Amino acid sequence: MSETKTLVNRIDTTYETAHIVKEIELDTIALSDLELIATGGYSPLTGFLGESDYVSVVEEMRLTDGEVWSIPITLPITEEKAKELQEGEEVRLVKDGVTYGVIQVEEMYTPNKEKEAFLVYKTVEDKHPGVKKLYDRPNVYVGGPITLVKRIEKEKFAAYYLDPSETRAEFQRRGWKTIVGFQTRNPVHRAHEYIQKAALEIVDGLFLNPLVGETKSDDIPADVRMESYEVLLENYYPNNRVFLAVFPAAMRYAGPREAIFHALVRKNFGCTHFIVGRDHAGVGNYYGTYEAQEIFNDFTVEELGITPLFFEHSFYCAKCEGMASTKTCPHGKEAHVILSGTKVRELLRNGELPPSTFSRKEVVEVLIRGLQKEVVTK
Ligand code: ADX
Repeated sequence: MSETKTLVNRIDTTYETAHIVKEIELDTIALSDLELIATGGYSPLTGFLGESDYVSVVEEMRLTDGEVWSIPITLPITEEKAKELQEGEEVRLVKDGVTYGVIQVEEMYTPNKEKEAFLVYKTVEDKHPGVKKLYDRPNVYVGGPITLVKRIEKEKFAAYYLDPSETRAEFQRRGWKTIVGFQTRNPVHRAHEYIQKAALEIVDGLFLNPLVGETKSDDIPADVRMESYEVLLENYYPNNRVFLAVFPAAMRYAGPREAIFHALVRKNFGCTHFIVGRDHAGVGNYYGTYEAQEIFNDFTVEELGITPLFFEHSFYCAKCEGMASTKTCPHGKEAHVILSGTKVRELLRNGELPPSTFSRKEVVEVLIRGLQKEVVTK
């Protein structure tokens, strides 16, 4: 049940759709989910979840066959649309007038969203960005297998979009047997670099896999981040030990549950290890600092098929004169350079430099330039 040896592949660009009259309009999240199901990023899923798998994922963090899966991948439609559709029929999946896929409608059901919020996000508050998104999306879910009939055009950094089969092939080409995956929705600051390199000391390669799907509006935009990753890798990482490609999914901000999900998906992209640091995929104060690590106690490494590597809160310590963590540094907070994400974004948007002990100067320069451009064009 553990390692996904065979990737799901549900791409068929020759699939005939002209005769299919009915359509479902996808939002940005559903479109990225569609593509990730089809390319095998979400293996073993072959479609949007039906009701029994949905309930099982929400309540047990497993599909009905027992496979671990922690985030419900669902296709929400309105009640009016649900009345129009029939179980058993094929429906086109459309965004902005373009047909990207087809779903075989197996069932339509009404989820208990408060329960989903409480069990997946650990809160029912709509102040939580993931919960708000859950509530804002329509109220009926349609489940069934999908086929991707058209690849999504990548407007920016197209070269960094690789399917799981392609990243796996690349790792093999490089001769890497052990690969550690790193998820991020932020620029790579010194603390991130520190834990990545600590992990890299014990594996063959690092897969830097920033999430570029939908994020909340005050997160740093993906195109600005991409440039910052490039300049960082160019200056501070050995080229033959790191590989950069994007993760096109939306951010859920589901903390512990999302850490499991992120690990499973990186396994599909070919990783053997996955980094989980402090408050992984967290937002605000919804999750405990190490909750996203503790949740891994509920599963064996064999059933996950990927080994998590845990890191404690890391920072620059003026007394140690280097990067350290709560595990390795005996000094007090006054010696530590710690800035919240919100504080850093505020500094950068005002054109102020965070210290080089927090973030590499090449990275900071790119971010300030990018964010100021963003302000001008807004
Ligand atoms: S996330 O929402 O994508 O998880 P972020 O980009 O901040 O956010 O984090 C990427 C990874 O680095 C996560 O595994 C997170 O736990 C870890 N991380 C971020 N900052 C630190 C830090 N200061 N110390 C240790 N781990 C960290």
